[in-house]
Amino acid sequence: MINRRKAIRNAILGLGVATVPRSLFQKLTVDDKFKIALNIANENPDKYWQLIQSQFNFANGIRYFNNASLGSSPLSVIEAREEYSRTLESFPSKYMWGGWKDQINEVRIEAAKFINAESDEIAIIHNTTEGMNVIASSLNLKPGDEVIVGDHEHRTGVSPWLFHQEKKGIKIIRPILPLTPDDPQEIVETYKKVISPRTKAISMVHITNTNGMILPVKEICAIASEKNILTLIDGAQSLGAYPCDVKKIGCDYFTASGHKWLFSPKGVALFYARKESQKWLKPFIANYNYDKDGISKIDDYNTRNLPDVLGMGAAIQFHKMIGLKSIMARTLDLKKRFLSRLKDHPQFKIKTPLGQDQSHHILTIEKIGTDVNDLKESLFNKNGIDVRGMSSHNLNGIRISFAMYQKEEDIDLLIDTLLNAE
Ligand SMILES: Cc1ncc(COP(=O)(O)O)c(C=O)c1O
Repeated sequence: MINRRKAIRNAILGLGVATVPRSLFQKLTVDDKFKIALNIANENPDKYWQLIQSQFNFANGIRYFNNASLGSSPLSVIEAREEYSRTLESFPSKYMWGGWKDQINEVRIEAAKFINAESDEIAIIHNTTEGMNVIASSLNLKPGDEVIVGDHEHRTGVSPWLFHQEKKGIKIIRPILPLTPDDPQEIVETYKKVISPRTKAISMVHITNTNGMILPVKEICAIASEKNILTLIDGAQSLGAYPCDVKKIGCDYFTASGHKWLFSPKGVALFYARKESQKWLKPFIANYNYDKDGISKIDDYNTRNLPDVLGMGAAIQFHKMIGLKSIMARTLDLKKRFLSRLKDHPQFKIKTPLGQDQSHHILTIEKIGTDVNDLKESLFNKNGIDVRGMSSHNLNGIRISFAMYQKEEDIDLLIDTLLNAE
């Protein structure tokens, strides 16, 4: 086996990435592929990123700048998931009821490490929306209790609280965040102003889906913690794209889907509850473990799609092979290339704060004098460019997601198409 791997590895290194036949490439394990890629990267970063790009299977002619809506799984993740699916179908009762216990535990351990948590602080759920619902329904809130939910929260981070506002008579406080603050402290002050003795929880997005603004969650959690206010972070736009160290952030709860920036199968997500804050958790679905202490009751669904859960393990593996640092550097390079031509262009207005630690991989930009929906349509019709149109918060801009699978030429095409769009 080792000799076979060595032979393939040498063949690939000798051939160069661009000419690796797909049939040969696909025979390698995930580990083989990316260890080789790392080797190549030391010699030639261009080839390294070409290899990464070759792992994503976008339809011909599609230039995908919409990862913040939904990521695409690389081939290794698709393959791993399919393999798990075949195994499950070969002996369903065995694999669903314990046959994969160790493997699932391994995913939990890896997922925990990914956000600097302990494995008994992690549940594997379906999506961020579910995580937000778990907390909104768990907390024992009384009429008149207040929950702070900023105006840039994703709709599905607001809905659970609105639902409980009706049911429990709680009050939702919606501070209006500055759109492009000069200093993140402006956001901290905005939150500080609305905290009252009745505040019981702050539900807060890490990176906004509207304009990619990074919220100073660590500072806000520190203030909340001093006042015994619980904090819940929506990490849908940060997990996999930006550091998510829950201990550093100091939140009580953190939830994030894997299917955006972790490129996992669809419908898998992380839910973190720090040990001291698990006593308030109530299961969303009451099953065998509903009355147990700890976090196990949160992902105790009985029958569920285990190939997706295990596929998230493959996604974490893929991600780790490249490394967050390297992914972040790549996305920043792509963004810089984009900004170098449009940042000071009189026809464009950047609707995202650009200071360090104020944004990273998501950018919203308005083309002055155009309607965002027309602009979005025109980009797609002319060159298959997919972006998200953002009309809320007076943005009238397209939201561009920068992701490691994009090529420099894709960025140039995006810029030229934007310049020519009417
Ligand atoms: C910030 C944020 N939170 C939550 C969600 C909802 O994610 P999911 O559909 O995975 O629950 C999204 C989706 O775009 C998002 O951007």
